[in-house]
Amino acid sequence: MRRNIVAGNWKMNKRFEEANELVNDLMDCLEKIDDLKAEVILCPPFPYLELCTDMSQESYFAVGAQDVSEHESGAYTGEISASMLESLGLDYCIVGHSERRAYHHETNAVVANKVKQLLANKISPIVCCGEVLSEREADKQFDVVREQISESLFGLNAEEFGKIIIAYEPVWAIGTGKTATPEQAQEMHAFIRSIIKEQYGAEVADNTSILYGGSCNAKNAEELFANPDVDGGLIGGASLKAEDFAKIIISFK
Ligand code: 13P
Repeated sequence: MRRNIVAGNWKMNKRFEEANELVNDLMDCLEKIDDLKAEVILCPPFPYLELCTDMSQESYFAVGAQDVSEHESGAYTGEISASMLESLGLDYCIVGHSERRAYHHETNAVVANKVKQLLANKISPIVCCGEVLSEREADKQFDVVREQISESLFGLNAEEFGKIIIAYEPVWAIGTGKTATPEQAQEMHAFIRSIIKEQYGAEVADNTSILYGGSCNAKNAEELFANPDVDGGLIGGASLKAEDFAKIIISFK
């Protein structure tokens, strides 16, 4: 059975004391939810990972990183390895975010390497895909997403693929306030599930959680998550306020 998941990608926001406050506020909010219908994952910046893993022991969330090195270890100044993340007790890591693709030259081949490093360290990759506006305007969104997913993930065997979470994040919707309509999200999520089915069969496809990201907020989450192929969200801006994030977490029927 696939899981409902709400993951908060804090991106490059918050100072230490603010991060501490946000996690504490969120713990209070989670405490008040009687019937938690989703797995909650916080993806803070690297310096706050240990703070979050410590606090997660007393709460209902898991912790993920926002990126990882494609290399195993060694002379890569400034990089963070999957093994380091594993040693902190992390369960998840975002890879292939459009901001890393755009500003840090993260290609599908690099994403594939990062995924391998994570899986070798028993960390579930949250793999982002999504088209830019000009690609959607040219009706190329399905080709783009197919290429991203096949080049970065279809080298895996079915067992390995079973650890993957996909996040569909149309780039034109990220941080713009311009959310994909529930129909656009459902259409793409169903497409993604269909290509997973072609590659790995119905069972793997049915079991894969596919999250939506891009201006998802407390107001539109319910409508987005009500779609049969939308299994939750990868939330940017709205994950920086505990109450907004908590409202998104309770948006499952
Ligand atoms: P926003 O929710 O701020 O649009 O960001 C989405 C995102 O990029 C999450 O990874």
